[in-house]
Amino acid sequence: MIQQVSLCIAGFGSASKAFCHMLMQQHQRILKDYNTDIRITGIAGRSKGSLLDPGGINLVRAMEEMTASGSFSRDNPQYSTHDTLHIIEGSDANVLLELTTLSILDGQPAISHIETALLKGMHVITANKGPIAWDYSRLKKLAEAQNRLLLHETVVMDGTPVFNLVNETLPGCQVLSFKGILNSTTNFILEELENGSSYDETIKEAQRRGFAEADPSLDVDGWDAAAKTSALLNTLMNGQITPPDIERTGITHITPEEIKKARDQGFKIKLLCEGWFENGHVMGRVHPVWIRMNDIFSTIDATTSLLCLQTDLMGEICVVERHPEIEQTAYGIFSDLLTLLKKKYP
Ligand SMILES: NC(=O)c1ccc[n+]([C@@H]2O[C@H](COP(=O)([O-])OP(=O)(O)OC[C@H]3O[C@@H](n4cnc5c(N)ncnc54)[C@H](OP(=O)(O)O)[C@@H]3O)[C@@H](O)[C@H]2O)c1
Repeated sequence: MIQQVSLCIAGFGSASKAFCHMLMQQHQRILKDYNTDIRITGIAGRSKGSLLDPGGINLVRAMEEMTASGSFSRDNPQYSTHDTLHIIEGSDANVLLELTTLSILDGQPAISHIETALLKGMHVITANKGPIAWDYSRLKKLAEAQNRLLLHETVVMDGTPVFNLVNETLPGCQVLSFKGILNSTTNFILEELENGSSYDETIKEAQRRGFAEADPSLDVDGWDAAAKTSALLNTLMNGQITPPDIERTGITHITPEEIKKARDQGFKIKLLCEGWFENGHVMGRVHPVWIRMNDIFSTIDATTSLLCLQTDLMGEICVVERHPEIEQTAYGIFSDLLTLLKKKYP
């Protein structure tokens, strides 16, 4: 018997569309390898319309409408005027994909979306750092109480294994501290400033290429990096911390002259994320640092990310994600879906 697994997607932007492309390409393979037919029963948007049909949405039509006009057509028989919470509840889905815009101030409304789904008995996959940076410990406990999974591989370094690396491949290892370059936009800006470009042109280019947050201050003021630092502390080091608890200095005060001065002395300036324990509490910091040219952190160019974990049993382990595109984001979500199929289904 082929099993049916249905998904409800909250937020239909770049990450969702890329995931849907991957799902359509891989549909037959999932059917063959996992004996599972995946369908989508709800798509909740904010300003571009929503679709709802517990019998299964016509994904090809939905994608065509989005490509043609940037929104779902009101003529689509599956069009819905319900709000996101209603779509989640009415979708009868087994899994919520939480892919709405990051809200750095409080992680909402994504936290409510996740809570609603878990209370409905749905598993949750999120690429949205907000809920993991703000409320991971409580949401994780709720997921466990409901015997559901809350998966979030994409939150840091897209599909590159970070959480899976620690949870699945390093049994018994404790993460003691970490250092990372985790925000592509600031890394890209610092590099482009070194090459003579201006802040404004560089931010526009980063947004055009799809890796900058819609609100550039989230990147240049270090908020995105602080959210990732908080997410790492909460998940890998059992912290209960939120982004404002992270000591944070952005890059807006860094001038081309300072970058040149650093280069002349054999350094590069990088925005570093750090997490460690102090007196039994987790601590985090995001700040621009002068790094020697021959250090591994100096070699991290453009949109590449690096995370080095200091562990008790395995010493230091570093993972690099080189020049990711939106497909790597889609893969993070897709890999969580396959993890779920392996662990909880049939
Ligand atoms: N893009 C990446 O490479 C990447 C990588 C890792 C993690 N992420 C995270 O993944 C999430 C999605 O990223 P993205 O690049 O797809 O962002 P995006 O293109 O801006 O799409 C987000 C979508 O969510 C919708 N939305 C916002 N609030 C909503 C609500 N309450 N209910 C329903 N829909 C809502 C927005 O609708 P409107 O269009 O109407 O505003 C938008 O279409 C973000 O949290 C992001 O930080 C992205």
